[in-house]
Amino acid sequence: MITTIATQPIAGQKPGTSGLRKKTPVFMGRHYLENFVQAIFDVVGARSENGAGKTFVLGGDGRYFNDRAAQVICRMAAANGAHRVIVGQGALLSTPAASHLIRLHQTDGGIILSASHNPGGPDEDFGIKFNMPNGGPAPEGVTEAMYQRTTEITDYKMLEAQDIDLSVIGRHDLGGMIVDVVDPVADYADLMETLFDFDALRALFAGGFRMRMDSMCAVTGPYAVEILENRLGAARGTVTHAAPLPDFGGMHPDPNPTWAHELMAEMMGDAAPDFGAASDGDGDRNMVVGRGVYVSPSDSLAVLAANAHLAPGYARGLAGVARSMPTSAAADRVADALGIARYETPTGWKFFGNLLDAGKVTLCGEESFGTGSDHVREKDGLWAILLWLNILAVRKQSVAEILTDHWATYGRNYYSRHDFEAIASDRAEALMAALRDSLASLPGQVVEGMTIAAADDFAYTDPVDGAVSLKQGVRILFAGGSRIVLRLSGTGTEGATLRVYLERYAPGPDGLDLDPQDALAPVIRAAHALARLAEFTGRTEPNVVT
Ligand code: G1P
Ligand code: ZN
Repeated sequence: MITTIATQPIAGQKPGTSGLRKKTPVFMGRHYLENFVQAIFDVVGARSENGAGKTFVLGGDGRYFNDRAAQVICRMAAANGAHRVIVGQGALLSTPAASHLIRLHQTDGGIILSASHNPGGPDEDFGIKFNMPNGGPAPEGVTEAMYQRTTEITDYKMLEAQDIDLSVIGRHDLGGMIVDVVDPVADYADLMETLFDFDALRALFAGGFRMRMDSMCAVTGPYAVEILENRLGAARGTVTHAAPLPDFGGMHPDPNPTWAHELMAEMMGDAAPDFGAASDGDGDRNMVVGRGVYVSPSDSLAVLAANAHLAPGYARGLAGVARSMPTSAAADRVADALGIARYETPTGWKFFGNLLDAGKVTLCGEESFGTGSDHVREKDGLWAILLWLNILAVRKQSVAEILTDHWATYGRNYYSRHDFEAIASDRAEALMAALRDSLASLPGQVVEGMTIAAADDFAYTDPVDGAVSLKQGVRILFAGGSRIVLRLSGTGTEGATLRVYLERYAPGPDGLDLDPQDALAPVIRAAHALARLAEFTGRTEPNVVT
């Protein structure tokens, strides 16, 4: 039986760049999840205009409340008239695997349950987002319409029914709607086999190559075990923290040197394997590490762009490369050398979607440990790790050798991001406002011996649909290629997070092997002075350095 349940708007259900994210108890509150899910169906429609029910993909990263939320969403999809929901077994799907399933089955979109790399558990974070039929995150117009809907909502539709057994693969009936529970890994693993030379990778591992994959008790465990250990023959136990847990085993599944410290310690130690990697809560982020050497995400994108043609899926070359504005210009140098198009987009994966759909770029990446290609419409952690492995298998060099060679060829873009978290929002806004006011006066000024060549607030016009995005972050460019970028995070859940992105270009051949923080020291001092950081925030040191 379908019931219509009276409700009223709940303030603050405004999705950010990665969907609606809140503390788990908030999501578990009365009508909270239901209101938002109804807003999704009201905006995208559970039926098409001719009345036929639509098909959606559903799954999440396995965090606390994932399973309960999936049951609620299935019942609401049925009550709203959907024809079919394709759910990963156990309500699990990595974000890239969900993107792939949406595309593979040409569905009308999908709902992904995740708060990405944020901790999970009864007192941690939960999230929900809608992806479009192209497999990518809903654009701003759509999420804004959903938000509008949450401010007007008066009731939602619910099917009264028992839980479906999401642990059993196969077809289930839910009040006349089909629920197909599918293996969350198989189709994704098959896709990877079409892109990479699995024979060469099997030979690599058979030849004694050792790797460590830290899945951080999050969703990539089953994917990594199937692909690396079962299909490619990596030693059993290569994947650690492989079982997804509702609280991620207390880990903070954010693959950066701070949070993936176990992996870092192993890779910097005497018994380090040849290659190390980690992924985040929902499997879209990645960090790669060589024996004794950390690869910054900006460098990773550049190395992948320069070498992608070594993998079968990219043997014909790349159409172009896109990076988010704060990501270092290392990939630009590769694009220029290859003579292919390059794009600089605002922060957030959704800006890559149009470029990928239009065939303008093949690879894209962000400094925030996100890399991907046109095989799906999300960033993809395991994909990046497999592309690295394919390159290592073909070049038969170590990660350190590949990096050194890359810098010798293109020069090195030293890079670091300093995050100042949980600043009072008004202080952070005031800092940015003052900085914006000063922009016109900056060019020509000399700071720390460096001359400011240009300063602006980044604006982007989408080359495909012409949409304009203003105020995407302050850029201060110095003569010689050094750069400071400042912007406020759009994903933080506490106060404001100020991100300061620092870059210095060394053309080589000298000065290519400095410690990045040392190499960037003058740029860091210039950033503090120009933004009057201590004055506005009371902080002199960042909380997180990546
Ligand atoms: C952060 C990252 C950004 C990424 C987003 C979603 O956003 O900086 O690159 O796309 O998470 O994973 P921010 O908090 O900076 O707005
Ligand atoms: Zn993520």
